[in-house]
Amino acid sequence: MMNTTDLPNAQAVVVHDDIEQLGAAVAQRVAELASQAIAARGVFHVALAGGETPRRCYEKLRHLPVDWAHVQVYFGDERCLPAGDAQRNDRMAYGALLGQVAIPSANIHAIPSELGASTAAARYATLLLQVAPLDLALLGMGEDGHTASLFPGNPALGNPALDDHVLAVPVFNAPKPPAERVSLSLTALNTARQKIFLVAGAGKRDALEQILRGEPLPAARIAAAEWHLDRAAWPGSLR
Ligand code: 6PG
Repeated sequence: MMNTTDLPNAQAVVVHDDIEQLGAAVAQRVAELASQAIAARGVFHVALAGGETPRRCYEKLRHLPVDWAHVQVYFGDERCLPAGDAQRNDRMAYGALLGQVAIPSANIHAIPSELGASTAAARYATLLLQVAPLDLALLGMGEDGHTASLFPGNPALGNPALDDHVLAVPVFNAPKPPAERVSLSLTALNTARQKIFLVAGAGKRDALEQILRGEPLPAARIAAAEWHLDRAAWPGSLR
């Protein structure tokens, strides 16, 4: 029987019954971390995850007591699509959360991916340099173990020299469409004060099994993360 402590690098692993409970638990954690950061430093810098898994969390978060005027929102990655395109990660976040809470628009820092991956990554890296370290990075994981838009085989993953000082990277060959993206780098993600993964669905089980076996998939390269999984994703449910 595998237990949750087998997940390498994990600061904590919580297995929830379903996406609703996972979303509620992570929403609560975000609100707590926001309150702590604002009390300590007057601001909460958070990078939101893309994809679909975080949607329920964001929908629940909008009902929690968060001092949005002191929250600065960034994105862990963005797809290179026209501004406003429904398939962009920032649009999902707007629909589920940011368009529903009293956060000043100046506090929302979209990745300008409509400018193309190289230009957008350079601009975003400059912005992140002014605020690093993030207080929280929310992260998803793909079925291949990617996180943000750091996919297996990405040269930034294998080249610490490249990655050490770069906070945002262009991606041109993502296997998950669109191929062109912008991603926060491992350094930007790993230097966040807190990292929280949201992983749900049986489709993620294989990647988690590989990580449990010590495969250095991109998601496994995030150190000291808090993993929130649903039962369908957790391989332990097999044993
Ligand atoms: C994206 C995301 C990506 C996502 C994972 C998981 O652009 O799709 O940034 O990293 O977090 O692919 O996606 P799901 O949550 O939809 O399974």
